[in-house]
Amino acid sequence: MKIISIANQKGGVGKTTTAVNLSTALAAVGRRVLLVDLDPQGNASTGVGVFEKQDRKGSYEVLCGLTKVSEVAIKTRITHLDLLLASPDLAGAEIELVEQSEREFFLKKAFSGCQNDYDYIIIDCPPTLGLLTLNALSASGSVLIPLQCEFYALDGLSRLIKTIHYAQSYLNPDLKLEGIVMTMYDKRSSLSDQVAQDAKKHFGGYVFDSIIPRNTKVSEAPSFGHPVLIYDVKSPGSMAYMKLAGELLTKHGVHA
Ligand SMILES: Nc1ncnc2c1ncn2[C@@H]1O[C@H](COP(=O)(O)OP(=O)(O)OP(=O)(O)O)[C@@H](O)[C@H]1O
Ligand SMILES: [Mg+2]
Repeated sequence: MKIISIANQKGGVGKTTTAVNLSTALAAVGRRVLLVDLDPQGNASTGVGVFEKQDRKGSYEVLCGLTKVSEVAIKTRITHLDLLLASPDLAGAEIELVEQSEREFFLKKAFSGCQNDYDYIIIDCPPTLGLLTLNALSASGSVLIPLQCEFYALDGLSRLIKTIHYAQSYLNPDLKLEGIVMTMYDKRSSLSDQVAQDAKKHFGGYVFDSIIPRNTKVSEAPSFGHPVLIYDVKSPGSMAYMKLAGELLTKHGVHA
């Protein structure tokens, strides 16, 4: 089982879109996937058509050890794709965790019970570098960073890399950088190209060849509670996420 955090403390860069659509693309080629919504905004949950209800348990309860993954994972409409939704109490989790010892390792402990149930766990992190993201990094084998093709994209990236180094030093020596995926690429804009080139210059082979284009189908899909792969499978956004999943599987030595 591979556990991948999708993280970047910068808001609106395509973390959730990538978590939802990469999960869907991996499920579409037969991998058993658990998508974990670790962001109190709950966008990954609604993105796969699951809406919050007051009594519904999810990532908060699993994080706190109140329940097992297998008891609260929800089957989505997509075959092979389960979800741990962002339960309402997740909003207070950062504050509650501060008081606890071993506070960065709650999620790691929770996942140890479902080693055989999934091929991939994909974690959608919130746009912060607080305890939720640290729990995700402790529990993960790797971290995938979406980088939006816009002027300030590389700003703040050094803080994220520092946090990853911190996690590697103190929480999870096995944590790897899975790669950087360029999102919302606009082929008509020279700025998009410039940012993609800068990322390649800084991070070389870590930048995925698959680039996610800016595509209205991608942004429309969540309002229908669908990943873009379900909403419009032939759209450029869908194709790009399928390609990204293929690239990831090849990297992991699996042929889709
Ligand atoms: N490839 C794309 N083409 C067009 N719109 C996109 C694309 N990727 C993401 N978006 C849109 O950009 C917005 C931000 O994307 P998303 O929610 O995935 O970012 P995020 O990093 O998860 O945000 P947050 O930091 O708030 O969690 C959303 O409205 C989404 O629909
Ligand atoms: Mg998000």
